[in-house]
Amino acid sequence: MEIYKTVQSLQKFVQKQKDDGLTVGFVPTMGALHEGHLSLIRLSQATCDRTICSIFVNPTQFDDPSDLEKYPRPVERDIAMLESENCHALFLPSVKEVYPDSLEATESYDFGFLEKPMEGAHRTGHFDGVAQVVNRLLEIVQATHLFMGQKDYQQFKIIDRLIELTQRPVQLVRCPIIREEDGLAMSSRNVRLNPEARAKAVHISQTLRKIKAGFGHKSIIELKKWGFEQLEQVDGMSVDYFEIVDADTLQNIDDVSESQQVIACVAVRVGGIRLIDNMLLKVH
Ligand code: PAJ
Repeated sequence: MEIYKTVQSLQKFVQKQKDDGLTVGFVPTMGALHEGHLSLIRLSQATCDRTICSIFVNPTQFDDPSDLEKYPRPVERDIAMLESENCHALFLPSVKEVYPDSLEATESYDFGFLEKPMEGAHRTGHFDGVAQVVNRLLEIVQATHLFMGQKDYQQFKIIDRLIELTQRPVQLVRCPIIREEDGLAMSSRNVRLNPEARAKAVHISQTLRKIKAGFGHKSIIELKKWGFEQLEQVDGMSVDYFEIVDADTLQNIDDVSESQQVIACVAVRVGGIRLIDNMLLKVH
C-alpha cells in the first residue's frame, strides 16, 4: 500500500489511475479502524478498480476539545489493517496539508432541515466541520465513488446533499452498519468504554430492535417514548435524543403511511462516552 502525506503526491497517484481509465473509490475515516471501516474498504474494493482510504482526525468537527484530544490514534495498527485488506493507497495528511491557510471554513452550505435535528441540535457546528472536511477531501482526492456508513445516518444525508449542492461528479454509496456480536454498533469510541459501560451499551441496539418489532403495532409517539425510557432507565446512561423520523427528510412523522422510509436514531452517553446508533424501520 502506498502512503501519501501530501496533497500533491496523492493527486499524482489518482491522476495516473484516472489516465488509465480506472475507477477510484474513496473511504474517508478518522482512523482507529475497526470492522465497520474495513467493510467500507471491502465494498470499495468490490466496486472500484482502486481504493483510497484517508485517516484524518478533523479538528473542525469536534465541538468538545477533550473529545478531540482523546480521540484514539493507533496509526501503525491502522496501516497494518489496511495493508491486510490490500487497500491501494492511504492518504495520511497533516492538519496543515488539509487546511493550508486556516481552520476557518471558506464556504458554508445550506443543508436546510437536515442539519437541524438530532446531531445538529446536540453538537453545535459539527456538520459544518464534517461538510468542510469532506468537501476538501473530495477536492483533493477526485474519486469516482465515495463510501460512507449508515452508522452516521445524518452525516450520510448531509454529504449526499453536499454532493448535490456542489455538483461533484462522485457517486455516493451507503454502507450497512457493522455490529459486534451482541449488537453494539462498531465505533472507534467503543475502545474507550470501561467494562461496565460496555455491558450497558448493548441496550442501545436491543432497544432499536424492539422498536423495529413494535413498528406498525404502536404509534410513533408511543414507540419514541418507550425507546427513550428504556435507555434512560439503564443505570448511568443518559439519552441525548431518541427520534423516529422520515429517513429522507429527517422530519417528524405524523402519518407513517406518508413516509416511504422511516428510521429510528439514538444518541446516548454512558461511562463518559457518547454513542450513536440507528435502525431503518420501514424501507420502500
Ligand atoms: P469515522 O467515524 O472514522 O467513520 C468513517 C466512516 O466509517 C463513516 O462513513 C462511518 O459512517 C463509517 N462507519 C463507522 N462505524 C461504522 C460501522 N459500525 N459500520 C459501518 N460503517 C461505519 O465519520 C467520520 O469518521 C468522519 O466524520 C469523516 C466522514 C471521516 C469526516 O471527518
